[in-house]
Amino acid sequence: MDEMTDRALEFARERQRQALGELIQWLEIPSISAQPSHVSDVRHAAEWLAAHMRGIGLANVTVRPTAGHPIVYGDWLGAPGKPTLLIYGHYDVQPIDPMNLWSSDPFEPLERAGNLYGRGAADDKGQVFANLKAVEAYLKTCGALPVNVKFIVEGEEEVGSVHLTSFVEANAPLLAADAVLVSDSAWLTLDAPTLIYGLRGLVYLEMEVIGPSQDLHSGSFGGPVQNPIQALCDIVAHLKDDQGRINIPGFYNKVQPLDDEERRELGRIPFDAALFCKDAGITTTAGEAGYSIIEQLGARPTLDINGIVGGYTGPGAKTVIPSRVTAKISMRLVPDQDPDEIADLFIAEVQRVAPPTVQVNVRRLHAAAPAIMNRQAPPLRAAARALQLAFGHEPVFARDGGSIPIMSHFQRCLNAPAVLMGYGLPDDNIHAPNEKFALAQFFGGIRACIYFLGALGE
Ligand code: BES
Ligand code: MN
Ligand code: MN
Repeated sequence: MDEMTDRALEFARERQRQALGELIQWLEIPSISAQPSHVSDVRHAAEWLAAHMRGIGLANVTVRPTAGHPIVYGDWLGAPGKPTLLIYGHYDVQPIDPMNLWSSDPFEPLERAGNLYGRGAADDKGQVFANLKAVEAYLKTCGALPVNVKFIVEGEEEVGSVHLTSFVEANAPLLAADAVLVSDSAWLTLDAPTLIYGLRGLVYLEMEVIGPSQDLHSGSFGGPVQNPIQALCDIVAHLKDDQGRINIPGFYNKVQPLDDEERRELGRIPFDAALFCKDAGITTTAGEAGYSIIEQLGARPTLDINGIVGGYTGPGAKTVIPSRVTAKISMRLVPDQDPDEIADLFIAEVQRVAPPTVQVNVRRLHAAAPAIMNRQAPPLRAAARALQLAFGHEPVFARDGGSIPIMSHFQRCLNAPAVLMGYGLPDDNIHAPNEKFALAQFFGGIRACIYFLGALGE
């Protein structure tokens, strides 16, 4: 290990508490991208980040407005002849509902039993902050980095990265890099770092089923009048069979089957199904017959109902045939499914099976293409060594079930290998009440990124 890396590691170790204090400040800003009432908070979080980037010694730091939330860019390009690493992350966070299930205020981060609790702690402020602290450690001790670094941190990941997509297309030269680092994922097990080489895609739809032109008394009208909630349930029930397979013609046409070698490799991951159930709060799994949990999560598509709103939901009983109902439905996609094509197939099938007594409208909310990376790419191997050094455990390689919409665009526009080196744990409660980030993962993440930057520079 060279001297620069040594000095950066020592700096990072001495400044752990300070780094934590800074992260807490950032987490206090409720940058919920989905909710219009938080627009100025999102901007505030972007500006806080830009100021912090300038403070640690990055150049060309800018908050770039978009038609939505701003994109923050900053770089350090003082190592001519060395590779350039593009580091991506997001500073927006998920909504906090249901608020009553939080043990502490989501925006007053609380340190308890080795964890930092707060919205965004793991997804993704804490993880991107670990990478910033690694860069800072080099710049403050050596005045230089082993490689060139560009940061791009967006405020719309949780709402589909709508404006980053066109930004990347229009600014490919600005973002040009030899490798991309993303720390926005979690380990599959508690004791083995996970390097992700595949992410699922996503298509998110809203389906509205309209029945009578107004709510009706269910005694005076029930029977001859179609209940739109019943119609919606019938349609939804049709979309999946009892083996967990999605019942939309053409849906599986482009799904790449898992080959034997990859199945063997995934099968070797020390994955604890009982712990998975415990983390999920379930007693037994459902899912697609013939595939392990890890295979289902990473390499098989799904269809989920995220919410249904309609009819009477207040206290007590009210007899009513509602006029309309809506459902939010998403499908996780795998290579080589195309989100637009899948949305078309979904809409065609829903219209085909809808009874003539209702009107069905489907709206597309957002979409992300699936991504798969080469497991043998040199930067991925460098990341594996960095994780081993930082955490003392050999990492495993896996596909993850989540989506990061920009990954497929990076692949297409930048043509650089991507490394998904996440520091989250499977029980971080991301998108849920009591989100947390383990301090050991935060500090270990800083070390991992320091080692990774050092390794890339060699
Ligand atoms: N960081 C997650 C994605 C993730 C989670 C990747 C766990 C790997 C492991 C990201 O912030 C996220 O939540 N993405 C959304 C994307 C959507 C809103 C377009 C998702 O997967 O639901
Ligand atoms: Mn994330
Ligand atoms: Mn997320």
